[in-house]
Amino acid sequence: MRGKRILLIIGGGIAAYKCLELIRLIRKAGGAVSPVLTRAGSQFVTPLAVAALAGEKVHGDLFDLSDEAAMGHIELSRAADLVVVAPATADLMAKMAGGLAGDLASTLLLATDTAVLIAPAMNLRMWQHAATRRNLATLTADGIAVVGPNEGDMACGEYGPGRMAEPGEIFAAISARLGDAGIRGGRLAGRRVIVTSGPTHEPIDPVRYLANRSSGAQGAAIAAALHALGADVVLVSGPATAPLPVGPQIVAVETAQEMLAAVERALPADGAVFAAAVADWRVAGASDKKIKKGGSGTVPALELVENPDILRWVAQLPPGKRPALVVGFAAETDDLVANATAKRAAKGCDWIMANDVSPETGIMGGPENAVTLITADGAEEWPRASKVEVARRLAARIADVLDAEGVA
Ligand code: CTP
Repeated sequence: MRGKRILLIIGGGIAAYKCLELIRLIRKAGGAVSPVLTRAGSQFVTPLAVAALAGEKVHGDLFDLSDEAAMGHIELSRAADLVVVAPATADLMAKMAGGLAGDLASTLLLATDTAVLIAPAMNLRMWQHAATRRNLATLTADGIAVVGPNEGDMACGEYGPGRMAEPGEIFAAISARLGDAGIRGGRLAGRRVIVTSGPTHEPIDPVRYLANRSSGAQGAAIAAALHALGADVVLVSGPATAPLPVGPQIVAVETAQEMLAAVERALPADGAVFAAAVADWRVAGASDKKIKKGGSGTVPALELVENPDILRWVAQLPPGKRPALVVGFAAETDDLVANATAKRAAKGCDWIMANDVSPETGIMGGPENAVTLITADGAEEWPRASKVEVARRLAARIADVLDAEGVA
């Protein structure tokens, strides 16, 4: 925690009193706290108590002119290594999920690109309400970490889930976030990595296209995991259905040719991971007008031409221009290791993440992946795990190489 700064947003709930102990724990461990007290929060704890424990000014009002002169709210969120919302009330969660920015707390949460951890606290019926369930799902999909709530007696006299996690638990969650994320200054700090992800859409005419079943979940998770290790990540994503991660720079593309152009613009980089399911072919001379059925019974013939192979193009760049580590994927249905090993040689990349995409595996579009990593040293079978876990493991391996080689 030493040297780390936590932006602590204290919402309006009875659990706000627990934040005083949380501030004490963070400061004792060498961290600093920038406190923000919502108007409702200040009904439960006083700015004076918070300021005394934090040893810093308490921020409450978006329209504090002296701060605004120095772009106060942007600065506040930029200076933090982690944003913590405790208690995260049902109202604050709804504002976050909806992207509202009507006060300082919600504006900071919308303006930040720093990782966010929330500690929800509310009456159990509010916690169980369909609206809160929806908001929680949105926030989790946005990459926001959640600690608690716990089950127990509540201030309102009821029993159930909704009690805010204890200060010690929130402190542990903060340490874990700072530790494994490294958030700023992690193992990949100063390293730039390009990730491609998702399917591509190849137009037939203005309303029709060729596509594939890739959701973009694995690529998004890899980009998030690399960002969490401190890398400067550019995620070039086709039209994915999985949510895009918070943190990496996102470049949205449609076609394989646009993806190649975006990758070219994103170079130079220290590493590149090609997780996209790029369409191998596009329609030659796609029509700029909708092709009419016409009623004559004739079927249009679609002539296909090969798309550029983005992975091969990057892997075969001359030394100095080529990223030090180039990782491809091989989606196979038969002879996984043999085909992926041949693909590694043919494309000229350093590693291939080979996965079996036979329909019975449920991998394409599913939440899990089973990967065999092919390197110059051979094949290494990884246990089947969530795509997030596979991404973390890959990011750690990438950090081993880019760290060890001291790549500039
Ligand atoms: N890839 C790419 N550009 C393409 C096609 C593929 O960058 N035009 C990348 C993918 O992102 C992946 C790897 O190449 O990392 C392998 O893709 P895959 O579809 O499995 O292999 P193909 O080269 O298309 O070979 P085949 O379909 O014959 O198995």
